[in-house]
Amino acid sequence: MRNKHRKSSAFHCNAGSRCSLPALVWSLVACVLMIHFSSHIRHDDKAEVPVHLNRKPLTRELEEIEEENFQMPPPRGKRSPRAIKRRGPRRPPSAIDEFLDESSELRNLFFPDRRTVIDPVNGGNDSMYFYPGRQWLDTDGNPIHAHGGGLLYDENSETYYWYGENKDGPTYQAHKRGAARVDIIGVSCYSSKDLWTWKNEGIVLPGEEVNTTHDLYKLNVLERPKVIQNDKTKQYVMWMHIDDVNYTKASVGVAVSNSPTGPFEYLYSKRPHGFDSRDMTIFKDDDGKAYLIYSSEDNSELHISPLTEDYLDVSQTMRRILIGRHREAPALFKDKGTYYMITSGCTGWAPNRALAHAAESIMGPWETMGNPCVGGNKVFRMTTFFSQSTFVVPLPGLPGSFMFMADRWNLADLRDSRYVWLPLTVGGPADEPLEYSFGFPVWSRVSVYWHRKWKLPDGWRVD
Ligand code: GAL
Repeated sequence: MRNKHRKSSAFHCNAGSRCSLPALVWSLVACVLMIHFSSHIRHDDKAEVPVHLNRKPLTRELEEIEEENFQMPPPRGKRSPRAIKRRGPRRPPSAIDEFLDESSELRNLFFPDRRTVIDPVNGGNDSMYFYPGRQWLDTDGNPIHAHGGGLLYDENSETYYWYGENKDGPTYQAHKRGAARVDIIGVSCYSSKDLWTWKNEGIVLPGEEVNTTHDLYKLNVLERPKVIQNDKTKQYVMWMHIDDVNYTKASVGVAVSNSPTGPFEYLYSKRPHGFDSRDMTIFKDDDGKAYLIYSSEDNSELHISPLTEDYLDVSQTMRRILIGRHREAPALFKDKGTYYMITSGCTGWAPNRALAHAAESIMGPWETMGNPCVGGNKVFRMTTFFSQSTFVVPLPGLPGSFMFMADRWNLADLRDSRYVWLPLTVGGPADEPLEYSFGFPVWSRVSVYWHRKWKLPDGWRVD
């Protein structure tokens, strides 16, 4: 900075040149001014640090970039010279092949074994740390079963409830080419005050063992349950993906309860607006209006529809969004009046690249911004850290900060699927080209930061 100032000086006397008195006086005045100016600037520079710290002192650590490195194991088994001639040398496995392969040397990286378990009751010094991908125990010491889940913050009891698929059963394929599955056991519910210590509240909507015509009959599919409370009726309303074993029913189901811990009464299923509906979520806005968002037209687009006032059905209105983009696993949230959504691509249980989207009005138009994942390494970022979005939780004490919830599906043993919870922030201009640049605001960037180990900063909730 000093050099700059020196260069910009207009009152410089070259050795040997003749300087007049007024010129000398002016030079001195200029020097005094420059010293004053430069010290002022330096003072301002210093002042910027606390300003920045004041802006987000708590989340700064969470926004640090954490790199991950892993070595791909060599291809297993050699091809015979004849096979090489016919089919070429064996293709090196991709990171996703390794992830899906039960016998991969990298297995423990993706699915660390029981020795590294997160155990809130016996947490010791490590208490309150999230370790994405590790097994996570409830307060009874059992692995948490709330897959494809979402949270509800219940104002009455000042408690968080986590609802999700209970997948505590054997994984099998109903047909040779069918998706790996676990029978419907039901929707589990866990409660917590700190988002880290979870008490098992039991199965609040059980699967049906006997009646083969029931939507929840064990050989059907119940996925991605989400619960919101209706302020007028005070009821807790659960929406979920209901399907048959081949995913051809493609419907949404609705259940209701007077208590967050159930039991929930299953009401019915339907194809909303007559359209197929697979991955879905619901979102309750600040004004009490709620919406259903679902993948439709064979997952090629999403549909969004306001729910009726009692939240028990969809209203007549529906808009198609992200048409032709083939997105699923929607997770919606709102920041400073703007709606954001994270979605995944459609590759079944295999991980893929997340995308963030934004909209000024929840009914659209929705615009795609790019991959929100930051840190790890390229493979981590291109696979959503080997997981798939399911929900985004606001951290009320830290405006602009959220927690991203995702599932790391264990294809070989779905019961052992893991949770990837990471900090998410909204801020700064989006760094990928916008789809439509004309007439749309410049959205803020949505970032999900990879961390091997992290904890919620103090002050994340409003006390
Ligand atoms: C995924 C979906 C999951 C589950 C899975 C079955 O695309 O997000 O919830 O349905 O397919 O293969």
